[in-house]
Amino acid sequence: MKLADTGYTAEEIKAKASKYMIETYERFNFIAETAKEQYVYDENGEGYLDFYAGIAVNSAGNCNEKVVAAIKDQVEDCIHTFNYPYTIPQALLAEKVCTTIGMDKIFYQNSGTEANEAMIKMARKYGIEKYGPNRYHIVTAKMGFHGRTFGAMSATGQPGNGCQIGFGPMTYGFSYAPYNDLQAFKDACTENTIAIMIEPVQGEGGVHPATMEFMKGLREFCDENGMLLLLDEVQTGWCRTGSVMSFMNYGIKPDIVSMAKALGGGMPIGAICATEEVSKAFSAGSHGTTFGGHPVSCAAALAQIDELLSRDLAGNAKKMGDYFASKLATLPHVKEVRHQGLLVGVEFDDSIDGVEVKHGCIDRHLLITAIGAHTIRMVPPLIITEADCDKAVSIIGEAVAALS
Ligand SMILES: Cc1ncc(COP(=O)(O)O)c(C=O)c1O
Repeated sequence: MKLADTGYTAEEIKAKASKYMIETYERFNFIAETAKEQYVYDENGEGYLDFYAGIAVNSAGNCNEKVVAAIKDQVEDCIHTFNYPYTIPQALLAEKVCTTIGMDKIFYQNSGTEANEAMIKMARKYGIEKYGPNRYHIVTAKMGFHGRTFGAMSATGQPGNGCQIGFGPMTYGFSYAPYNDLQAFKDACTENTIAIMIEPVQGEGGVHPATMEFMKGLREFCDENGMLLLLDEVQTGWCRTGSVMSFMNYGIKPDIVSMAKALGGGMPIGAICATEEVSKAFSAGSHGTTFGGHPVSCAAALAQIDELLSRDLAGNAKKMGDYFASKLATLPHVKEVRHQGLLVGVEFDDSIDGVEVKHGCIDRHLLITAIGAHTIRMVPPLIITEADCDKAVSIIGEAVAALS
């Protein structure tokens, strides 16, 4: 929908949003009216270099042509029908996802947090059925982030952080250990623990990739103790980290992996993939969703995956990630650059406020996010070039210089 078609001014649209929407977001002061490839355009047609991609969603570029065509085709054929009949996009996507990432079965949801709910439910049901009623405990990482529904919030190892404050008690059955500390994870497990659940790269926690030793050690420990390794790849999945899934960077396989964001090319979709054995915990009636596996989202996801794989955007994520990180490291006040592919975090020294850098960048038409006090995070579309990276580095440098 374009502003010109509505008869309203930009200020009138913003006023309607402020008046009628329950606001939990700190809004930028522009309307994102259109978007194409690595740019978002405001109501005046001015372009913003998009280094957040709808928060790691538009990985094959904003409004990717093949994704748009797939959506249009599916909308004409069947928008929605619930999950009792088979649908063609669901079946084809299931085969595509499972065979591409080497997992056995998929269950569709609508978002990242819902995918994590399904992952937690499946792990608990598997544990209780296989070992007995107390085997439902899950160890997750401190400073992790898994979403904003109660199970996912409770799995988020940041007790008392913003997303949990004011909502009363979290769900029982989780405990937390410091990320990348294998011994602490082992120590946190009891005879009632059924699973360890982590992000391969902590995104919201400041862009901290798992070390090889940690990931392989967790896999080994889970195998030795009849426990499941659950990976939240909502943000890292589908080519962002230089491999199709981040777990491929470590040469291991999870028992269940969750995904969302980039999978749908901009359409809402979430999913879990599990091994055959673990997937049997779910049977008719044990879990369900009205919209999960929506035909339009699945059709979009098929086109998105085709684009990601045929253009080797995982390869580009690796190449551009390394290039971008090396350039960012040369900026003044940078304490550390952390990245896996194009999931990139820059931590500044204590004199630089990350939120102010973010605002400085947005004023200069570069879209990024801030996390914590001194860190910015960038998750651009995976189609970006060295020229885009150079432009972003130059704008970030200007924003930082304006604060020093
Ligand atoms: C690692 C991770 N898990 C889960 C979520 C929640 O996903 P959604 O916002 O689609 O519910 C996010 C969102 O940022 C995430 O980064």
